[in-house]
Amino acid sequence: MLPVTADLLLRNVASPTGRRADIAVTGGVVRHVGAAVRADETIDCSRFTCLPGAVDMHVHMRGGVQADKEDWRSGTVSAVAGGVTLVVDQPNTVPPITTPDRLRARIREAGEQAVCGFAINAGVLPDADLTGMWKAGAMAFGETFAAPSSYGEGLDLESLRALFARIHTLGGLATVHAEEVCGTAPETLAEHDRARPGEGEARAVGRVGELAPVGMRLHFCHLSTAASVRAARGSVEVTPHHLFLSYEDFDPDNTLARVNPPLRDEATRRALWSCWDAIDVIASDHAPHTLAEKSVPFRSAPSGIPGIETMVPLLMAAVYRGRISLLSVIEKTSWRPSEILGLPRAGFEPGDRADYALYPDELTRIDASRLHTKCGWSPFEGSEAVFPEEVIVGGVRVYAHGDLLEARPRFCPGKGYLLQ
Ligand code: NCD
Repeated sequence: MLPVTADLLLRNVASPTGRRADIAVTGGVVRHVGAAVRADETIDCSRFTCLPGAVDMHVHMRGGVQADKEDWRSGTVSAVAGGVTLVVDQPNTVPPITTPDRLRARIREAGEQAVCGFAINAGVLPDADLTGMWKAGAMAFGETFAAPSSYGEGLDLESLRALFARIHTLGGLATVHAEEVCGTAPETLAEHDRARPGEGEARAVGRVGELAPVGMRLHFCHLSTAASVRAARGSVEVTPHHLFLSYEDFDPDNTLARVNPPLRDEATRRALWSCWDAIDVIASDHAPHTLAEKSVPFRSAPSGIPGIETMVPLLMAAVYRGRISLLSVIEKTSWRPSEILGLPRAGFEPGDRADYALYPDELTRIDASRLHTKCGWSPFEGSEAVFPEEVIVGGVRVYAHGDLLEARPRFCPGKGYLLQ
């Protein structure tokens, strides 16, 4: 009889290259590939497409005084139900994360409630204690608002230059929300698009790139046009909503589709797909607001839409329809974000993090009433999607067939943490 050598054995896993193998996991890490071992638990993957767990490097988990929109529990259950096993939270909380004490409190809140891996970014404001937060475990800096957002004014270019210099000295990654805003109080989605135009976004991306010291780690959040992708001197993130939705899909004053950067017109959306190969990361910018908050006149509605649970399912539908390759989805949702953040990657080789999501063959449609986000709505209602049946975090099955089985919170600090 074979000795018990693994916690978990994934049998008949097809890698993106088509090779089938058994993957043995111990202590949350892949130990053997292709070797027949006995394990405490075995999952037969032969009828699934097995993806490494996604790393969503742009989410707003809310919580604290905003827990009616979302909290760490509902937000991370939504994550795993969509095949995301590690989330990177943005610091525009109320109050914002600008001090080591606030960062530590945020880590505690997440540690008590999250069901998967998590990291927390540091807020970038002139009076923020960047060094203190870096040492307290911040994963990255930002999103840095180089434009006004739902939560306040953007930074001017000189402040941004000075903050970049400080972040570069620390060896940190700066993540930036770059836009130009030239109109206020739009009444419709088309006016919102014109008030934060695509050309302005591309110009802002170019300007921000010029401010960064040579060799600095720079990442552009949620670029919404092909011109912005071309203008970026740094890694490029794009959201599912800018790829799959245009404002023409909605009634002109539909507040649910209001988001920054705005949804663009159909031609711009299609042109963004032409840059698919140049996109480093797909991230959701999961930014839930309650239906009550969105049920106001367009001009005063908050910007932001939920998307963590539908991100990989929408992309998997595009894979099944033959529009994009499975490997490109793995790279943009898991491997590239891990590389940019300096995290060990999830995957199929010895030493890889044992985070996976198992997708069935069938396409289904998004039904917001079945999603796990607290906000209870989705702009992707009715879209084709493939949801994972089972999700594994750190070698442990945490989610199966719509039910959470176990919570596996794990704090992932940034590189500055080691200095303490
Ligand atoms: C973000 C949010 O709600 O936190 N909203 C959004 O439309 N992306 C903040 C922001 O980026 O404006």
